[in-house]
Amino acid sequence: MNDLIAWRESYNLGISEIDPQHQKLIGIINKLYNAMRASTEKEEMQTILKELTDYADYHFSTEEKHFEEFNYVDKVPHTKSHDAYKEKIAQFSKSYESNESNTLPFDLMDYLGSWWTGHILGEDRKYVECFHEHGLK
Ligand SMILES: [Fe+2]
Repeated sequence: MNDLIAWRESYNLGISEIDPQHQKLIGIINKLYNAMRASTEKEEMQTILKELTDYADYHFSTEEKHFEEFNYVDKVPHTKSHDAYKEKIAQFSKSYESNESNTLPFDLMDYLGSWWTGHILGEDRKYVECFHEHGLK
């Protein structure tokens, strides 16, 4: 097992509801990466890709629910960033489905790795103070 993304201490936001969700997301991305390297059959790849999509949706709605509750100042740009990610993954999934090959494009893995680490360390970090102020620890 070779991870695409190794969990780092700096990914912890100090919010007990959110941190395990981020860990789980990175775990699914690593599972997808390893399945790709093992030339796993397409049906299984699509199952993992769907697991990632569904869990990301669940995670984004957790964050967005709190943005609403706390009237978070950056809720609009942050939600837009989630929407752009969802759109990009939907496009990737669609082209993968219509493609004959079982190999996922490398740029999907690149995108997943850089998007999630950049998002957690960048945009997600920004809401920590607001969430903490509202008692979410
Ligand atoms: Fe986020």
